Amino acid sequence: MRLRNVKNKEEILKQSNILIFDAERYRGKWQSAFEKVQPIHLEIGMGKGQFIIEMAKQNPHINFIGIERYDSVIVRALTKVEYLPNLRLIRADANRLPSFFDHEITRIYLNFSDPWPKKRHWLRRLTSPLFLEKYDLVFAGNPQICQKTDNADLFQYSLLSLSQHGYILKELSFDLEHSMIPNVLTEYEERFLEMGCPIYYVMAEKLETKDSSL
Ligand SMILES: C[S@@+](CC[C@H](N)C(=O)[O-])C[C@H]1O[C@@H](n2cnc3c(N)ncnc32)[C@H](O)[C@@H]1O
Repeated sequence: MRLRNVKNKEEILKQSNILIFDAERYRGKWQSAFEKVQPIHLEIGMGKGQFIIEMAKQNPHINFIGIERYDSVIVRALTKVEYLPNLRLIRADANRLPSFFDHEITRIYLNFSDPWPKKRHWLRRLTSPLFLEKYDLVFAGNPQICQKTDNADLFQYSLLSLSQHGYILKELSFDLEHSMIPNVLTEYEERFLEMGCPIYYVMAEKLETKDSSL
């Protein structure tokens, strides 16, 4: 998702007090980027930020980090929120996650990630074995991955990939909107729901990652 230029983009990025420019510097000490020491949840590909901003507001007992690779997109999130004590954003590619985090994340959200339909691109999917290995390096405790998607093919791939990587599928829905599972909508999700698409959801958990104090 690339967006047309926002006016004053550079100024908005520069003046933000939730955007972290030097994410590598916090590796192993992300708690120091927040006001309270509490579990850290990460959203990869947060887009314009509706989900993570609302989650941070509803869950003050959790610290949230959003990663998005495009300036033009992350700036949209910055225009929606001035400051939240439990929210930080990083402009970066998720391929670099292990250079930012060292066993300090307890949950990853993947919302409407790019489906990469061609087989030769499957390793770019955020639930590919390549990414799950990267997540092992950033996760602490009993890590959880929550995925929402409208794409049945990506969903099926994710269920298999997560299972083969030692995750247990703890919550599953083939129609999240009509399930009892609590949900905060993303921008893409709103669009798919308007089109009448069912939303697929999985929460998967693994029991064996290096422990954390939280
Ligand atoms: C289809 S959009 C979904 C946005 C949002 N999660 C939502 O549900 O409304 C996918 C977003 O993920 C971002 N993205 C995709 N691959 C990424 C990566 N490897 N690292 C960081 N961001 C990524 C894209 O730039 C895009 O903004």
